[in-house]
Amino acid sequence: MTLSGHSKLAGVAGWPIGHSRSPRLHGFWLQKYGIDGAYVPLAIAPDDFETALMGLAAAGFRGINVTLPHKQRALELCDRVDATAARIGAVNTIVMTADGLVGSNSDAFGFLENLRQGAPTWEAKNGSVVVLGAGGAARAVVVALLDAGVADVRLVNRTVERAEALVADMQAVAEIQADAGQRASLQAFPWDNHADALSDAGLLVNTTSLGMQGQAPLELELDALPVGAIVNDIVYTPLETPLLATAKGRGNPCVDGLGMLLHQARPGFEAWFGKLPEVDQELRDFVLEA
Ligand code: ATR
Repeated sequence: MTLSGHSKLAGVAGWPIGHSRSPRLHGFWLQKYGIDGAYVPLAIAPDDFETALMGLAAAGFRGINVTLPHKQRALELCDRVDATAARIGAVNTIVMTADGLVGSNSDAFGFLENLRQGAPTWEAKNGSVVVLGAGGAARAVVVALLDAGVADVRLVNRTVERAEALVADMQAVAEIQADAGQRASLQAFPWDNHADALSDAGLLVNTTSLGMQGQAPLELELDALPVGAIVNDIVYTPLETPLLATAKGRGNPCVDGLGMLLHQARPGFEAWFGKLPEVDQELRDFVLEA
């Protein structure tokens, strides 16, 4: 790839960053669309994040993606953040403008786009949604589900207090939204009561790290889950997690997690490089080859 003196610059900031697939992903699109630009990995230690952010803006970067452990700090450092990022409590996309740093969070968008691409028949009115986990990823998924119009979200977490705290947070946001519309039901369930949550669900989403390579498998009894319910794991290493293998074995439609990574990258790419890129099989194969 040849860069000119006018190349558009962006990147991904994290610590560590070596495992990130984002440079490969954005690099594929830059090449595909023939854009004079670069997207680079930026290994930035937590204590250096603010200095680095200001430096990148001063150096003419159009913006960056932000990953662990900087997502909350990024929210504080941006001059403006959009409503979705504020509700999730984290920024993963920063656009550097003449008026300052503009933060947003594309994880909710990525989750929904992946779900819609992988399970085109899914609709918000197709029953309750069960979300496993109550960490940062769960927050983005819950915001996406509420925005999509899901009426009943059930959070199942090992530490039930964390699920309860997330429910309380989301309800507080709904209270202050003038256009909250019909209030969705949000409930926390202890892990051992997962069968109660799963009965009559239309969608099950795993947001925990269980099932990821190197982590314990997610062992969840799925007997209570209707066979027509869609099962989505946001873990994508491996692509077929133990949860998805079990779900597939009993006939549930399954959606893997790779597409969430691919789709969440699209809004940033559009903002920095001027083209809303596509997610297709060729891109999936290219990112998986790494
Ligand atoms: P992230 O930001 O990626 O969501 P996180 O905030 O560390 O990461 O949250 C990880 C989630 O995986 C949590 O819901 C966590 O459950 P706890 O809140 O009880 O810690 C869940 N998780 C991680 N390891 C787990 C395990 N061995 N069994 C059950 N849940 C686990």
